[in-house]
Amino acid sequence: MLFSALVLLSYLSDLHIVSGSSCACSHVTIPVHVDALVPTDPTDAFAGLQINASSVFQVNTDAFVPTDPTEVSPDLRRVNETYDIAGTFCRPDVPSPQNADVIQLLVHGFTYSSEYWSPSVAEFRNYSYAAFSCERGFASLAIDQLGVGLSSRPSDPSDVQFPTSAAAISEVARHLKSASILPGVPPFKKIIGIGHSVGSALLTFNSIVEGTRSVFDGLILTALLSVQPGTSFNIPLVGITAQEANPDRWGSLHPGYFTTENRSLFYPPNAHSYSPRMIIHDNFTKDLGSISIAMQLPTTSLEAEYTGAVAKVIGSEDRSFCVGTGRCDDVVALRAAEGALWPAAKSFDLVVAQGSGHDMNLDFFAREAFATLVEFVERFSRL
Ligand SMILES: *[C@@H]1O[C@H](CO)[C@@H](O)[C@H](O)[C@H]1NC(C)=O
Ligand SMILES: *[C@@H]1O[C@H](CO)[C@@H](O)[C@H](O)[C@H]1NC(C)=O
Ligand SMILES: *[C@@H]1O[C@H](CO)[C@@H](O)[C@H](O)[C@H]1NC(C)=O
Ligand SMILES: *[C@@H]1O[C@H](CO)[C@@H](O)[C@H](O)[C@H]1NC(C)=O
Ligand SMILES: *[C@@H]1O[C@H](CO)[C@@H](O)[C@H](O)[C@H]1NC(C)=O
Repeated sequence: MLFSALVLLSYLSDLHIVSGSSCACSHVTIPVHVDALVPTDPTDAFAGLQINASSVFQVNTDAFVPTDPTEVSPDLRRVNETYDIAGTFCRPDVPSPQNADVIQLLVHGFTYSSEYWSPSVAEFRNYSYAAFSCERGFASLAIDQLGVGLSSRPSDPSDVQFPTSAAAISEVARHLKSASILPGVPPFKKIIGIGHSVGSALLTFNSIVEGTRSVFDGLILTALLSVQPGTSFNIPLVGITAQEANPDRWGSLHPGYFTTENRSLFYPPNAHSYSPRMIIHDNFTKDLGSISIAMQLPTTSLEAEYTGAVAKVIGSEDRSFCVGTGRCDDVVALRAAEGALWPAAKSFDLVVAQGSGHDMNLDFFAREAFATLVEFVERFSRL
């Protein structure tokens, strides 16, 4: 009974979410044109970046994309499509003049959706980063990645790879700077990308490919450390085909779309650190992803010539990256190791959020994590 009520609520509230008296949120859809080269092998760990010169590997803009990718390599193919990217846009009713030009673009992780930034069920509304940051004066747009939630889902999951998913995110960001997202809302001047897990990896990918041309003024990358190729990491990435997991909802999808089964690894090892009811909600609101989105994380081991400000925030109890790895014990050493991949960044910082797990928005340490994120947003907005 409770379970079905949760499901129903989460679908209904997709239409319009009002998170508080001082903030208004609405559902938006942004059409984006994606023109990118993807590897013909969707499990290529470097997403095609190491096939020939990376300089030919460009998304949209005015960059060179060869008409015939086979001129570059038979191992690449071109995806040239227009997609709808759905999202929830929130802004303070009365934006403070100093923050009115700034928007946060929020990018969820693998098998999550824009719900990660703003749970739609009333019981978990206080876990909403969109509401937390809005109450502190900052607008946000939480998008559903390509293929996820209410965004376009290509029938062929091998069209959903790091190059295409990341390009769709950049295109949304360009749209936010060049066009009005809603009547009466002027284009924004500053965009801070905030990612969670694979969402952080997609923002990293854009920084690698676009470098100094990036549209983002700052990046806050949560729940992600660089992934070396060939390392196994403790993420239940590819669990089960979406078809098998939920035949009613996803029965007709290509078996190249996957979802995660048991999500307890996304929470801290100490079961007193989160609500058991959150795990139930999490299970009922899970979404899907393509195999590429799970397999192309090693792109995060490459250097980015990005010149904006960068911060990483990782939970001390993140079982994918910290618990049992020793990586997060020496924060100074970790900051230096991760910062080395961002040699041109205006600034690089890394915070280990004590107590937080991989899904740092969804456990009892969420508010501390939110405060850390807003501090970075404030700092990056002034740069
Ligand atoms: C790219 O590599 C392929 C082999 O994978 C080779 O045939 C082709 O000539 C290379 N193209 C360029 C532009 O270097
Ligand atoms: C890419 O798509 C655009 C828009 O649909 C189209 O105008 C263009 O001709 C396409 N380019 C190629 C090389 O197919
Ligand atoms: C939300 O409220 C519940 C119940 O008061 C509390 O246990 C939880 O820590 C709160 N979560 C956040 C993110 O504030
Ligand atoms: C999920 O896995 C954990 C251990 O990893 C286990 O304790 C728990 O019972 C599992 N939950 C379900 C619903 O299978
Ligand atoms: C997770 O949700 C599915 C329906 O999407 C349900 O069949 C399953 O029992 C749920 N599992 C748990 C542990 O709640």
